[in-house]
Amino acid sequence: MSATPLLELRGIDKSFGPVQVLRDVAFAAYPGEVTALVGDNGAGKSTLVKCISGIYPTDAGQFVFDGRPVSIHSPRDAASLGIEVVYQDLALCDNLDIVQNMFLGREKRSGIVLDEPTMEQMASETLAGLSVRTVKSLRQHVSSLSGGQRQTVAIAKAVLWNSKLVILDEPTAALGVAQTAQVLELVRRLADNGLAVVLISHNMNDVFAVSDRIAALYLGQMVAQVKTTDITHAQVVELITAGRSGGLGLAESATNGNGPAPAGSTTGGVS
Ligand SMILES: Nc1ncnc2c1ncn2[C@@H]1O[C@H](COP(=O)(O)OP(=O)(O)OP(=O)(O)O)[C@@H](O)[C@H]1O
Ligand SMILES: [Mg+2]
Repeated sequence: MSATPLLELRGIDKSFGPVQVLRDVAFAAYPGEVTALVGDNGAGKSTLVKCISGIYPTDAGQFVFDGRPVSIHSPRDAASLGIEVVYQDLALCDNLDIVQNMFLGREKRSGIVLDEPTMEQMASETLAGLSVRTVKSLRQHVSSLSGGQRQTVAIAKAVLWNSKLVILDEPTAALGVAQTAQVLELVRRLADNGLAVVLISHNMNDVFAVSDRIAALYLGQMVAQVKTTDITHAQVVELITAGRSGGLGLAESATNGNGPAPAGSTTGGVS
């Protein structure tokens, strides 16, 4: 396991109008590791991801990428750092085929025409590199794919661009058991290939099956980030629902009706 994060966030605040959705959030993602980002509905997971990917501006806080302070003001900034996101609501176009989807908006050209052979070759190599063998033809419309295959194409699309950090927002939410297993295997392979992977999931079995670290958001605060081997299912559930579990998370006083407040050194503690 690498000790140096690829991406580190410190003190991230984000409000929508009067509503503060992220409060002094610390977070780290490590190369070669899957970091699970967990939290209840509305905890702020997707918002945090949209801050990382340059969709939402942050109100305060620092981003450190590869050891350097960076600012991310747009999805283009994020992409140029090698940050790719596969969103909760999959952004694939049903009426396009696999290759067209993977290169949408970033098509390869040869002169003024599209360079179809190169794109097909790159798509094929990327899928092969991820050991994806369930797709019959790269030229089939995405509408004809199963949910798991669609998710696979979306993930392959994200790794096509020399990405260093891939963030997956609930990739298995709509999938059956076998397809979930396939996608989780793919998630693991991304990390084994050296990428930093962030996986948002509500499914504790998935989280424990595939993650190296777990980061828990509670009402917009990062209440813990710990190695998966150092925590139990029950503790993670407590962090998600109550913001604390034993010595982890918010200080006791903070959850005794005084409203949430950071718990000093344990908040967002990155081990
Ligand atoms: N564009 C927006 N404008 C105003 N409020 C927003 C906006 N986006 C999110 N919120 C609010 O921010 C909070 C966090 O939402 P977010 O989508 O980040 O949660 P989440 O952890 O991803 O939840 P889920 O598990 O349901 O996907 C919610 O209370 C939500 O209503
Ligand atoms: Mg969400």
